[in-house]
Parts: sequence; C-alpha cells; structure tokens
Amino acid sequence: MILFQKSKDLQAFIEKKKTENLQIGFVPTMGALHQGHLSLIRAAKQDCDLVVCSIFVNPTQFNQISDLENYPRPIENDIKLLIEAQCDVLFHPDVNELYGGNFAKDSSEDYGRFVHVLEGESRPGHFDGVVTIVNKLFSICKPHQVYFGQKDYQQCLVVKTLIAREFPAIQFHLCPIEREADGLAMSSRNIRLNSQERNIANHLYKALELVQNNWNKEHWQDALTHAKEMYLGAPFKLEYFCVCDQESLEELTDFKAEAVVLAAATLGNTRLIDNLLLRI
Ligand code: PAF
Repeated sequence: MILFQKSKDLQAFIEKKKTENLQIGFVPTMGALHQGHLSLIRAAKQDCDLVVCSIFVNPTQFNQISDLENYPRPIENDIKLLIEAQCDVLFHPDVNELYGGNFAKDSSEDYGRFVHVLEGESRPGHFDGVVTIVNKLFSICKPHQVYFGQKDYQQCLVVKTLIAREFPAIQFHLCPIEREADGLAMSSRNIRLNSQERNIANHLYKALELVQNNWNKEHWQDALTHAKEMYLGAPFKLEYFCVCDQESLEELTDFKAEAVVLAAATLGNTRLIDNLLLRI
C-alpha cells in the first residue's frame, strides 16, 4: 500500500493511473477502522482497479470539542488492517494540509429539507462540515466510484446531493451496515461503551428490527410505539426514533411500501445511530 500525506502527491499519482485507464474507487473514513469500513474497501476492490482510502478526522464536522479530542486515532492498526484488506493507497493528510488554517465551511443549507431534520437538528452544522471535507477529498482524489456505509444514512443523502451538484461523473455506492453478532451496528465509537452499556447497546437495533418485522399497513404505528417502550427506555436517552420517506426524510403519517426507520440515542457517554430500510 502506498501512503500519501500531501494532496499534490496523491493527485499526481491518480492522474498517472487515469492515463492507464484504471477505475479509481474511493473510501473516505475518519480511521479507527472496523469491519464496516473494511466491507467498503472490499466492495470497492470488486468494482475498481485501484482503491484509495482516506483517514482524516475532520474537525469541522464535530459538534463538541471533547468528541473531536477523544476520537480514537489508532493509525498503526488502521494501516495494518488496510494492508490486510489489500487497499492500494492510503491518503492520510494533516489538518493543515486540508484546511490551511481556513476552517470556513461550505453550506448544505439549500440541499433540501432532509439536511435540517434528525442528525441535522441534533448536530447543527455537522453536515456543512461533512460537505466541506467530502468536497475537498473528492476534488483531490477525483475518483470514479465512491463507497459509503448505510449506517450514516442521512450523510449518504447529503453526499449524493453533493455528487449530483458538483461531481456528476462520480458513481455513488450505498453499502450495507456491518453488525456485531448481537445486531449492534459497528461504529468507531462503540469502544467507548462500558461492559454494562455494551450488553444492552443492541436494543437500538432490536427496536428497529421490531418495526421492520411489522412493516405493514395495520401494525406499523403500534410497532413503533411498542418498540420504543420495550427497548429504548432508561438508561437510553432517545433523540429520535421515526419512520421516514427514504429520500426526503419526511416523517411518515401514512403507510408507504418503502421507507426507512432511523434512530439515535445516547448510552452513557456514547451516541449511537442506526437505521433499517423498510419494504413490503
Ligand atoms: O463517515 C465518515 O467517516 C465521515 O463523515 C466522512 C465521510 C469520512 C467525512 O469526514
């Protein structure tokens, strides 16, 4: 695996590979890699000739300085995992390389209603930070295909909108959520759960699954109420648990054949998010 820390070096390398007609796949990450990230690398390897992964903990998308400071950065282990997964290139720039001291954010304000709800409401400015960094990374890497995990479902809608507006040639791939044996969605933040919290963290998934298993016109609303009562009481601090349109994220009032159920809750000091696609 080749490691680049400077944008211009990665750019020159990619330009050269493009003259050889290679398909470039890109997996942007913030590191602390787990099987979820590695499944994105695997998907990219299946479709592309050359896979680039970036590791960059993006300061502009964090709402709390403590979350940014405590974000895990096990770079040695990440490099080992990427080599094992046969990733071709790692882009690992420092903050100055990408921001050069200017932390002004691009705006996602007019992307649509969906940026202002759920994560957009809970984490003001978060998607502006995501759009800012993804825009920079796509501009540097200029990939043909990009791979994002469904766990950050709303982020995927934001990135798809960025692509439609600024990078129409890029092909977007939504990749399934990787889960622990008990259903908990894999996340770099899961290591913050203590053992008691970890034992019940999969209740978020169980609640979503209950809605998925009752996805029909007669029972879906009762299932939503029941799931909340059964799984998401204390010690969970529930932020949202709702069924929405897959594109607009408008909360459903009437049944639809296809939708998405999304949840966010805090357990101790760890914020968990998860979702499941619904279809009859
Ligand atoms: O999903 C993530 O890890 C980050 O939001 C991303 C897309 C790498 C941008 O920093």
